[in-house]
Amino acid sequence: MPSTARRLAGFTESVIRGMTRLANQHGAINLSQGFPDFSPPEELLAALERATRGPHHQYAVTWGAPRFRQALAKKIQRFSGLAIDPDQHLVVTCGSTEAMMVAMMTACNPGDKVIVFSPFYENYAADAILSGAEPIFVPLRAPDFAFDPDELAKAFAQQPKAIIVCNPSNPCGKVFTRDELMTILRLAEQHDAFVITDEPYEHIVYAPHEHVYFAALPGAFERTITCNSLSKTYSITGWRLGYVQAAPHVIAQARKVHDFLTVGAAAPLQEAAVAGLELPDSYYAGLGELYAAKRTLFTSILATTGLKFTEPQGAYYSLLDVSPLGFKTDTEAAEWLIKEIGVAGVPGSSFFREPEHRYVRFHFAKKEETLRAAGEKLGRIAKR
Ligand SMILES: Cc1ncc(COP(=O)(O)O)c(C=O)c1O
Repeated sequence: MPSTARRLAGFTESVIRGMTRLANQHGAINLSQGFPDFSPPEELLAALERATRGPHHQYAVTWGAPRFRQALAKKIQRFSGLAIDPDQHLVVTCGSTEAMMVAMMTACNPGDKVIVFSPFYENYAADAILSGAEPIFVPLRAPDFAFDPDELAKAFAQQPKAIIVCNPSNPCGKVFTRDELMTILRLAEQHDAFVITDEPYEHIVYAPHEHVYFAALPGAFERTITCNSLSKTYSITGWRLGYVQAAPHVIAQARKVHDFLTVGAAAPLQEAAVAGLELPDSYYAGLGELYAAKRTLFTSILATTGLKFTEPQGAYYSLLDVSPLGFKTDTEAAEWLIKEIGVAGVPGSSFFREPEHRYVRFHFAKKEETLRAAGEKLGRIAKR
């Protein structure tokens, strides 16, 4: 029998999606894969109903339906101040997942090096392998998950083609400060590297932290490839809408990659999502408040376990330090949590390059009642 491609030996199936399957099998409350159990805004649902009756059932323009790109450009300008040309600076993709793959394939030749901070969102290692790039890992260290500028400079000395910056960061909840981003920019300029950012949690940031758009830093636009998504901002992870934003000569190449990967994102969903992009500023303030309340509730729940955990600055994840429970690995701990406690998280080791087996990651993008039900179960850990 012919064998499958060697590149696939370099990574496993998603641990996150695997934990979701295990949670379903055991009827556990699923706090592993980061998606809400509450509805998207009413405006989006109404627009989706209208879109089903409109003329939106065939392929949209490959790089994004014009109405969607126009609304997107306005929304990006509203928050980042960048003057985005919908015809030159954007490719609409199937989520940030596709955007990241497009960015990597657009920026990297096989054999190029790419800096990835560890812990990292698990897709990045697979993105690197599939695009033929070789990751150089630079640690973000607890408790604040800051990087060591000297370590980063050493990684840049290996002449990487790009660095990936997930901001706010999944899984550690780090929000990069302007100074940290400027350090990254200076090094990228010095070594002429792309900065590929992944920013789906741009609107889920907890005061006093603030989201800084990398592309809007002085002089950064030309070398930044921004990947972003509507999944988290509008609670529509299943709609699969995201985008790449970059300089026109980069977008011209990215369009080609995107075209041959997927042709395009779903046309009726692009049409309906315009209603989300046009929501007023108060929607985003409300989203921030909603998640701040969920963070307060969930961290108070984690405190009842008697274990240590990370308090996110942004995004909606917390890493629970399960090492005192005495399991050999975090995977064993995560399986025990699903089967015996009834709450699913993700073994932290799948996010770290270092041999780190202390953590299980939980997310709190859930209704208050779901979080309280999880809280009752997680409280049993302390009595173990
Ligand atoms: C950092 C990060 N990037 C990308 C994604 C995937 O986003 P999308 O649904 O837009 O593909 C996620 C989802 O959890 C994420 O946390």
